[in-house]
Amino acid sequence: MPLTAVRHIRRMRGGAQAHLLEADDGHSYVVKFRNNPQHRRVLVNELISSTLLEYLQISAPETRLIEVTPAFLGANPEVALTLGTARIPVAPGWHFGSRFPGDPSRAAVYDFLPDALLERVANLEAFRAILVFDKWAANADGRQCIFYRAMVRRGGAEGCPGFVARMIDHGFVFNGPNWDFPESPIQGLYCRRQVYEPVRSLDEFQPWLDQVLHFPEEVMDQAWKGIPPAWIEGEEDALQEVLERLYERRKRVPDLIAAARQGRANPFPNWR
Ligand SMILES: Nc1ncnc2c1ncn2[C@@H]1O[C@H](COP(=O)(O)OP(=O)(O)OP(=O)(O)O)[C@@H](O)[C@H]1O
Ligand SMILES: [Mg+2]
Repeated sequence: MPLTAVRHIRRMRGGAQAHLLEADDGHSYVVKFRNNPQHRRVLVNELISSTLLEYLQISAPETRLIEVTPAFLGANPEVALTLGTARIPVAPGWHFGSRFPGDPSRAAVYDFLPDALLERVANLEAFRAILVFDKWAANADGRQCIFYRAMVRRGGAEGCPGFVARMIDHGFVFNGPNWDFPESPIQGLYCRRQVYEPVRSLDEFQPWLDQVLHFPEEVMDQAWKGIPPAWIEGEEDALQEVLERLYERRKRVPDLIAAARQGRANPFPNWR
């Protein structure tokens, strides 16, 4: 069920000029607008990614369609985009929302952690999982994620303070607005190579490699059907083609990961 924006919280950093909005389910969402300065297609990329990541059980925020009404825009003139010095109004209608973990007035969410704190991330395996996805979907951006504090349980021991990582910003899968699949060894890598230290072979990318290889066509269909028509009007065939190419590429993913070792900076120091 789509949600409706009820309160403006703040503007976020980044090229898509997202805004943090509270919706009528009581949660807050980082909302990228259909007429954002990057491209309408980044919303399609985000939403398709969200469906695929959910199936692959890769750690990412929940996502929802968020309706922004003319009345809300009238009452919140700061909800707008800028291009140079020009103010561009947000188009009313449905936009893409990525759920903020917790209450934004109290929860601290970080874009980066220092290396010494990365050790305390409970789900570091998510960085290997998402590399499988990023190689598959030809993410043209470096890997981005958010971290937030949580009590972390290790090996049945009592919880201790740590962090959880959630993967965000899938606007540049399919090479962003280009909707194609260029390949490069550094594509999709996270900037802190420490997260890849456990990698000794392709085995450390399981079960995600197998899940991609046997990816159900129904989930691809479901991803396509979840896109609001206004986001792909006139581009339905192009999207169909992207998804067909994505489906075809499933078997290339192991080679694409292995090829990262041939890059100038091999990200896997322990894979010999
Ligand atoms: N679900 C979320 N919860 C909390 N913060 C988030 C969430 N999604 C995004 N953010 C924050 O909003 C910022 C912008 O999001 P994102 O990187 O997706 O947008 P962008 O405009 O595409 O950025 P870029 O310029 O990197 O392409 C992120 O750096 C992050 O701090
Ligand atoms: Mg970003």
